[in-house]
This record gives sequence, structure tokens and C-alpha cells, in this order.
Amino acid sequence: RVFPEAADAGQAAALEIANLIRSRAEQGRQCVLALTTGSTMVSVYDSLVQMHQQECLSFKNAAVFLIDEFLPMQPDSLQSHYRYMREHLFDHIDIPANQVFVPDGTIAQEQVTEACTQYEQTIENLGGIDIAILGIGRSGHIGFNEPGSSTASRTRAITLDAMTRIDAASNFFGVENVPRRAITLGVGTILDARRVLLLAFGEGKASIVAKSLEGKVSAAVPATFLQTHPAAEMLLDSAASANL
Ligand code: GLP
Repeated sequence: RVFPEAADAGQAAALEIANLIRSRAEQGRQCVLALTTGSTMVSVYDSLVQMHQQECLSFKNAAVFLIDEFLPMQPDSLQSHYRYMREHLFDHIDIPANQVFVPDGTIAQEQVTEACTQYEQTIENLGGIDIAILGIGRSGHIGFNEPGSSTASRTRAITLDAMTRIDAASNFFGVENVPRRAITLGVGTILDARRVLLLAFGEGKASIVAKSLEGKVSAAVPATFLQTHPAAEMLLDSAASANL
């Protein structure tokens, strides 16, 4: 779906999330969201906060899994994805703290695998992801699943692509300060979500958007795997759709 402005696409994604949370609440069920960070998501979270404040949208029956986090990363660091989520969403809504799940960027190397397995287990225990909201990196990553990630991949630690580290450099005051690794939900974990929305805005994303939507499905561009998902959709602004 192509929207004239990025904010319109963000609002559409927020509305879908809100509708899902409300319909689950009516059924007395929890709504499991997988969310990520980045400039693309700002309008989504702004809209959700607005709906919470003005339309009584409650997140009491929502559970949120943060899709990715740098490794290593302290939760209160400026660049922490968890901090981003608190500042843009969690601190402004009524989600219970024990329904927020984030990959632990402070974890010791030898405990990473176990923690990732536990993350997957928690998702499963809550009945799986109802909706995953993704951005896209210029490398074609979804979450932090960089080129080479297979459809079988689950939550794990990965090595970041050089392009991803360059794109993150300004947030870290230099590429040399960008962590080399991250924890991410796997491609397989994302593909198991019942609904997937990928948002991409701006001309900088136009080339990777075209490859992801129209290119051959391949681990070289992990976002192409969404072509195989029965309920995945891209929400674009006109600039990001320019190469289609
Ligand atoms: C990071 C995150 C991704 C996100 C991407 C897009 O790489 N790990 O999950 O989708 O940024 O960021 P932006 O929205 O700032 O372009």
C-alpha cells in the first residue's frame, strides 16, 4: 500500500494494531505484538500514544516483544532499543511491565543461546505473535536478520552487516562505536507471525524496497522471504515506492 505521506502509513499501521488489541480484548484474549525501533516507527508509536490518550485504547491485554537489540548494550544507553521503546511508547501507555519482553543486551556471551531459546519459548507460551511491525535496513534486513539469514532462523545473536553499522554510526557518534553484534528475532520467528506489516519511508529505501518486493526470494535479501508469507504487507510512502 502506498501512502502520500509517511505519517499516513504510520497511522494506518497504528490503527490496525489498535483494532487487533481491541478485538482480542473483546474476546478476553491477549494480543501479542512484535515491535521494533528506528525513525520509521516514530509515527506509528505517536499515533498509538494518541489513541491511548484520546480514545482510551488500553494496552492492558497486550504483550510486546522487542524484535531486536544491539549486543552489547546497556538498557539505559542513548542507543538502546529498549530505551527507544520506553521513550516512544512504553512510558506513555498502560502496558503492564511484566508484559514487555526485550532481548537482554547486557547478557554474557555464554548465556546468549539459552536466553534466545527462552525468548522463543515465551513467545510460544503466549500463543505466538499476532502482528509483527517491521522496518527494513538498506542491507535488506528485517529485525537484524542480515543477508545470509535463513527462513529457519530463530531468535539468536548475529553479526551486523557493515552497511547497517554505517547507517547506525550517527547515533553512536562514529561507526567505531557501533556494536558489532545484535540479538534479533529470527526470520522463521517473524514468518510465524499471523500478520506482518513492513514500513519503509523515503527515497533511501526505494532500491531495497523494490528488491524485496520484486526480486527473487533469497537469503541475500532477507526481506524477500516476506513474499512467502500469506498475510504480509508493505506500507510505503511515495518516495519509498519510486522504484517499483
Ligand atoms: C534498525 C533495526 C531495524 C529497523 C531498521 C530501520 O536496523 N534493527 O529493525 O527496521 O533499523 O531503521 P530506520 O527506520 O531508522 O530506517
